[in-house]
Parts: sequence; structure tokens; C-alpha cells
Amino acid sequence: MARQQSRYVCQACGTAHLRWEGQCRTCGAWNTLVETLVREPEQKRRLSAAAPERANVPQSLSGLREAELVRTPTGISEVDRVLGGGLVPGSVVLLGGEPGIGKSTLLLQAAAGLTAIGDVLYATGEESAGQVRLRAGRLGLLDGLAGERIRVVAENEVGRIAELSRSARPGVLVVDSIQTVTVDELEGPAGSVGQVRESALRLMELAKQDGIAVIVVGHVTKDGTLAGPKTLEHLVDVVLSLEGERTATLRLLRATKNRFGSTEEVGVFEMVERGLAEVADPGRAFLASADEHAPGSVVGATLEGTRPLMVEVQGLVAPGSYGSPRRTASGIDANRLALLIAVLGRRAGVGLGSHDVYANLAGGLDLADPGLDLPLALALASSLRDKPVPPDLVAIGEVGLLGELRPVPGLDRRLREAARLGFKTAVVPRSRHGVAPEVKGISVIAVGNLREAIGHALGLAPDPDGRAQRG
Ligand code: TYD
Ligand code: MG
Repeated sequence: MARQQSRYVCQACGTAHLRWEGQCRTCGAWNTLVETLVREPEQKRRLSAAAPERANVPQSLSGLREAELVRTPTGISEVDRVLGGGLVPGSVVLLGGEPGIGKSTLLLQAAAGLTAIGDVLYATGEESAGQVRLRAGRLGLLDGLAGERIRVVAENEVGRIAELSRSARPGVLVVDSIQTVTVDELEGPAGSVGQVRESALRLMELAKQDGIAVIVVGHVTKDGTLAGPKTLEHLVDVVLSLEGERTATLRLLRATKNRFGSTEEVGVFEMVERGLAEVADPGRAFLASADEHAPGSVVGATLEGTRPLMVEVQGLVAPGSYGSPRRTASGIDANRLALLIAVLGRRAGVGLGSHDVYANLAGGLDLADPGLDLPLALALASSLRDKPVPPDLVAIGEVGLLGELRPVPGLDRRLREAARLGFKTAVVPRSRHGVAPEVKGISVIAVGNLREAIGHALGLAPDPDGRAQRG
């Protein structure tokens, strides 16, 4: 074992200090010292996912051997879809998400699927082994292969986890969670940047040297402030995030980084009594109940990677009381909402300046698709005028500062999915060539600006100078 020493390294200038201080004496930065293990130079080892041990001689691109990827399916097709086909041996996967969102549940279910090819070691630092058993019972995983091949250990010292893995030789190691794992040589508390990073490095070493796939859970808060797991993203091979509203049942699994596949795919799940279930028809999962057609509700068609999803955008406009009006956005960027309110007022005759405005995406989704601008703008106009938008209408388009509508990527794919789900009319941006795309089963209305779009959606006839009037 190499001699290792703990030092406090400034994250701003790199100076190593012997003890912790609030301010770095070298560069003067505050709160930048992180406890770090300093190794003897010859012990330094490069970690690389692509080539664990190969002589470092440059080779021509064409002379390189193609990496052969073996993938082990988890048996949960939505998870495999996001991973790019399955788990790659020796890879390190970070699964992030808010506490209570369902990470442990999903991993236990995936572990059960992975037992088809070998043992899974489940190291839990967060819950006792008994609690894991309780959950497994609820998920119906106590019998059969899963009951036998998932080995649970309540352990949170990374050295002992690695030792256990080296002797038990599982195909997959699950560490739940990285915030509870510590390295004996470091003094900082579990969850501190130093502990989290050093633990992750040790787990990566284990993965690369022994060919064990390691899945690490990391808790992340909504604004991503919990520094720990964020600092790991560049180290690991795959970063998955499980998203959704804890109070709602739908969950999205996304890959935000994937060295072995695309980051375009999403998996859609529903939290049911027996864990996370795959959603049979994700296209319509995020529509609120179809029989309420109050003003302020408009369906948009968004693209999550390559997957079209219909999502209900809700707007509520109420006369403001005193002071500055409230603007509340949930699932939608607040700046985007403010911009749309301004454009609606200046370019489309929908004045919301003194109103309280609330905007929401149904189903607990959180999306940054500019194509949702139009449905949101329509929802606000619909709420202000107290006129519902037809329930079988779908709206797609980005809104520019001049009130013009801009094309969005994947329009055809969004329209085909809308048609498949029974929507009859689509309001979309006019393309540069002026032709509306033709999709069977849905009539596509291509418009140039927000004012026209409002006219069509709310059944107002636009007059020649473009000013919308009540029809
Ligand atoms: P959990 O996997 O513990 O979340 P995380 O590991 O991300 O913190 O799941 C937490 C919630 O999921 C918990 O509040 C209860 C709920 N749940 C179900 O609804 N059904 C189930 O079968 C299970 C196991 C959990
Ligand atoms: Mg958990």
C-alpha cells in the first residue's frame, strides 16, 4: 500500500495546505480548501474508460482497434434504452436525482434484472439491510434469482466495499449512495467534496481494474446545488438522472452523459405500488385528464431526445392586487415566462402587465423546449380571455421577440405523434418556404405570428391589420 497523506487542497489555485482554513493563504479565495489524499508520485495512475492498460504509444486512427462493447441488459427496457442497450462491464454509472424520487427502487429492480448474468452486490450506506429487504419484498424480488443473487451489505467505507467486491466478484456493484460513503484515510464528514471525490475515484479504480460495472447513487437537489455528485460528472462514464415531481407519479430517466451511447433517449416510468413501472404509451403520459377543458389549458408537443411527448401546458391569469404582480412558473423557465408575457403584451394585444400569472407543466415535467413557447402563450391568452382552446388542438412553436413564430426541430415527428394520439388540429410556425407540413389525420395550420395563432386557437377572426377581434 502506498503511503497516502491527507492535505487540504485549494480548488482555486491548487496549493496544498496542512490543515483546513476558511481562506486560502496563497490566493486568498474563501471556502475553497478540500481535504484530498495526496499519493506518492509513482503511485499515480491514469484512469481511462477506453484503454485500461495499454502501452502509451500513439497509433494512427485507422490502426486502432474498435472498442468492443459488451452490454448487459437490465431487463427493464426503458432503462436499457437510456443506457444505449445495457450496462457495460467496467463502466461507472452515476444515477442522480432528488431524495425520494425513486433511485433506490429503480436500482433494486434493475439489479434483479441483472442477476440473469451474475451476482449483484448492493452496498447500502443509507438504509439498513433490513430496510432493503423490506423494499425488495414490496417489489416482489425475494424469490427466484433476485432473492439469491442480490447480495446486500450495509457498509459505507469504500475500502471495505472494494475488498468485498474483489472477493465476491459480482458482475455489478451498486453503491447507495455516494454521499454516505467515506474513505478511512480522510477526516472530512461523509458527503463532503473530498470524501465524495476520493470514494468515487476508488470505485472507478475497482471498476476498471476488475471489470465490475459500478452504479453509484447521488442525491441532487432541484437547483443542483448539492456540490458532491456534480463534481463527479466528468469522472464517470454515464450520468443518468431520474426526474419528476415527488408528489406526482411520473418519472423521466435521462442520460445527460453517456460514453457508450446517445444522450437522446429518455425512459418514462410511473411509480406504482410495486415500484417503477414502464409506461405503455409515453406519448400521452403527460396529458392531464382529458375531460377537463377549462380555459388556460393547451397541449404542446415536445421532443425528449427522439421521443415525442404530448404535454399539457397550463396558465392561470388573475388580476393582481397591489405591489408588483406575481409570476410563478413550475416546470418552465421563469425568464421564458417573463419574456412571453412581454411579447404577448407588446405584439399580440394580450396585456398581462398588471396580472398575476401562474404557469405549469402537467405531470411534474421540467422542460426547456422552446417549442413550448406557443402553447404557453396560448394558455395565457386563453386564461385572460376566459375562452377555452379546443381540446383536440395541439400547438408547437418558438416565439420570437417580435411575436413571430419560429420553426422547431422535429416538427414532423411531433405532428405524427399528435395525429396518432387523436389530435385533430395543429397550430405550427410557417416554414420558410410557406408550405404547411402534411400529416395524415391532423389538419395543420401554419401561421406567421403569435397574433394569428391566438386567432386560430381561440376562434377569433384576425382582421386585415392583424388585430384579433372577438368572433
Ligand atoms: P426511493 O427509491 O427510496 O427514493 P430514493 O432512493 O431516490 O430516495 O423511493 C422513494 C419513494 O417511492 C417512497 O416515498 C415510496 C415510494 N415507493 C412507491 O410508491 N412504491 C414502491 O414500490 C416503492 C418501493 C417506493
Ligand atoms: Mg434511496
